[in-house]
Amino acid sequence: MQTQVKPFSTPPTDGHHPIPLHVAIIMDGNGRWASQRNLPRLEGHRAGTENVRRVVQAFARWGVRYLTLYAFSTENWSRPKEEVQGLLDLLEATIQREGKALHKEKVRIRHLGRLDRLPPSLQQAIHEVLALTRHNEGLTLSVALDYGGRDEIVSAVRRILQDGIPPERVDEVLFARYLYTADLPDPDLIIRTAAEQRLSNFLLWQSAYSEFYFTPTYWPDFNEEEVERALTAFAQRQRRYGGLPTAPNGAPHP
Ligand code: FPP
Repeated sequence: MQTQVKPFSTPPTDGHHPIPLHVAIIMDGNGRWASQRNLPRLEGHRAGTENVRRVVQAFARWGVRYLTLYAFSTENWSRPKEEVQGLLDLLEATIQREGKALHKEKVRIRHLGRLDRLPPSLQQAIHEVLALTRHNEGLTLSVALDYGGRDEIVSAVRRILQDGIPPERVDEVLFARYLYTADLPDPDLIIRTAAEQRLSNFLLWQSAYSEFYFTPTYWPDFNEEEVERALTAFAQRQRRYGGLPTAPNGAPHP
């Protein structure tokens, strides 16, 4: 299974990048997965957390270097209190359990989003996993937790103003340095599960030239075969970044 599409050892010149450097995922469908089985919604979220390690491992085997997972959005606070509490508890337990397991696999974990509104014990768990995995050189896993793209942009503007940066110095490169993703490449591929086709405030700035892949599969069922399908679809895309497609020698295609 893993031998059909190999990462190129040298960067391709024709706009094709068979293996994306950075994949970001909107993990949707936990609630519907649970309803289908007559289970409470939280059981769907539990199954979703149990899927994280399998998917991280699968992308790492394919040579993906950066994976970003949308775990809790700035809008998720508006869900019923019990679901929010249940989700935050699950996230804390998952970060503690999976953090240790992923550390053994050399995964470096990062957090994207606000920390100040999270329960202190969850903040603590995040600090610990970041410190534990800081020097790892395997895949970088970014967990977007209390993350919203608009919130990120507004907070960047505030900090640019606080730093007294003169308007003429503000350009795209400087602005990107004020985002949570300052040290990450932009996502090449954004996957959304569970048949929804929208961005839901995820990586608004960073997704300017991302390819999108949608699948009807609910997140808890998104397995190694689904990973392969998404990567195969990506490998067939022609990325143009607003320009014209080019031939392998760099010349424009006729
Ligand atoms: C959307 O499903 C999913 C979420 C709001 C939570 C996703 C979070 C996880 C799977 C945990 C990941 C954990 C780590 C540490 C990365 P939904 O409830 O919107 O599903 P529905 O649309 O079917 O109701």
